[in-house]
Amino acid sequence: MTIAFDFTNMMAGALPAGAGITRAEWEAAATPFAAAHRAVHTRTADLGFLTVPENETLLTQSLAVADAAVGRFDDVLLLGIGGSALGPIALRTALCPPQWNALPAEARGGRPRLHVLDNVDPATIAATLARLTLARTLVLVVSKSGGTVETMAQYLIVREALAQALGEAAAREHLVFVTDPEVGALRRLARSEGIRTVDVPPNVGGRFSVLAPVGILPAALLGIDVRALLAGAAHATRGAETPELTRNLPGAFAVLQWLADTGHGRRIQVLMPYADPLRDVALWFVQLWAESLGKVHPAGGHVGPTPVPALGATDQHSQVQLFMEGPADKTVTFVAVRGREREGRIPSRHADIPELGYLGGHTLGELIAIEHRATAGALAARGRFNATMALDAVDAWHVGALMQTFALATAYAGALYGVNAFDQPGVELGKQFAYAMLGRAGSEAARAEWDALPPPDPQWQI
Ligand code: PA5
Repeated sequence: MTIAFDFTNMMAGALPAGAGITRAEWEAAATPFAAAHRAVHTRTADLGFLTVPENETLLTQSLAVADAAVGRFDDVLLLGIGGSALGPIALRTALCPPQWNALPAEARGGRPRLHVLDNVDPATIAATLARLTLARTLVLVVSKSGGTVETMAQYLIVREALAQALGEAAAREHLVFVTDPEVGALRRLARSEGIRTVDVPPNVGGRFSVLAPVGILPAALLGIDVRALLAGAAHATRGAETPELTRNLPGAFAVLQWLADTGHGRRIQVLMPYADPLRDVALWFVQLWAESLGKVHPAGGHVGPTPVPALGATDQHSQVQLFMEGPADKTVTFVAVRGREREGRIPSRHADIPELGYLGGHTLGELIAIEHRATAGALAARGRFNATMALDAVDAWHVGALMQTFALATAYAGALYGVNAFDQPGVELGKQFAYAMLGRAGSEAARAEWDALPPPDPQWQI
């Protein structure tokens, strides 16, 4: 059970003349990394994601709700957005069999389907509600702050639908709030209406919360081996205890991306798994990396790489042309899965047709692995920075380890860039403008600023 990291193709020597991180840069980075490591690992009290995988109390809370739900629900409807939605989606895609929501109940082992709203598009919400039998649906309202506008709007709609379908008292039995243990509107509501809750610890931020009940409760409801998930994450954290860069996997990933961005103009950073189950881990990573690192620097100026999700081999027919021949401003990190060579035998047919005949006797597992290696090699041959994380399997342990690796890397990268990776002040102004337009009390200043903006100018409209 390992995650291996090969970053040869990030380094000068593997890439054509002039490209790549030099040995001197890498060795010099040991010092800032040691400082970044210290900045992260001395803050275990306020960086809850470091310890959450070993928090038995939290796990027990989630397991109690999941155990009580077994056999009672055909569907779980998760209301949430951002970090409260992307983690659960990534876990479902990675760790449930493909097409989970389309499988019959027996194939799901009696476990429910999982629907995650993750937006306020009226058509999606109406269509989702129209398909659900609310008497057999458990609704998780997931919001760390307990007041996010999109999640609250989703909740009001779903709560009304539950009340109409089941009556007020029964509706409450179909709700679980996953939120801060003390503060926020959801917590107040839970107290006043006796709605079940599971805690999101105050020191675990939204995009770092996949291994807190935000991800663990829905995963447990789906029958995912949450103990293995958390064990993988705890293993990744222990492996990162060393401040020695050459032995610290998340540290190496963070340092390489930081050097590539700040020293080599590689400002766009692609995460490209070669495995369908990991496609949503890439989307989850994008939020983690973007919202954590895209910041105004305290000394002035703006920092932050731009993360991009991709999927191999699919995106070889989409984005790889750009990665190969577009601006040399990207890194690509592949996530590969080892040992699939025997999966998906390709039948020998049409031996006389050159475009088909050579495939017979190979397997799809072999093909996807070879395509990854070929793409990595091709990028390197053109001086394009790339690296590969290789998993022994896509199972709960490895997915836990992988996601915790990226969470640690994000925390280190924040320290390397000199920004706070755990806040998101840049989303505030847009939120305030929306509150102002919706007439929320307390948003008068934002209303004034909004009203002072220049109106759309007809000369620039078509
Ligand atoms: O990472 C973050 O903090 C955000 O993306 C939040 O997850 C998102 O805004 C939702 O917040 P909340 O869980 O408080 O509803």
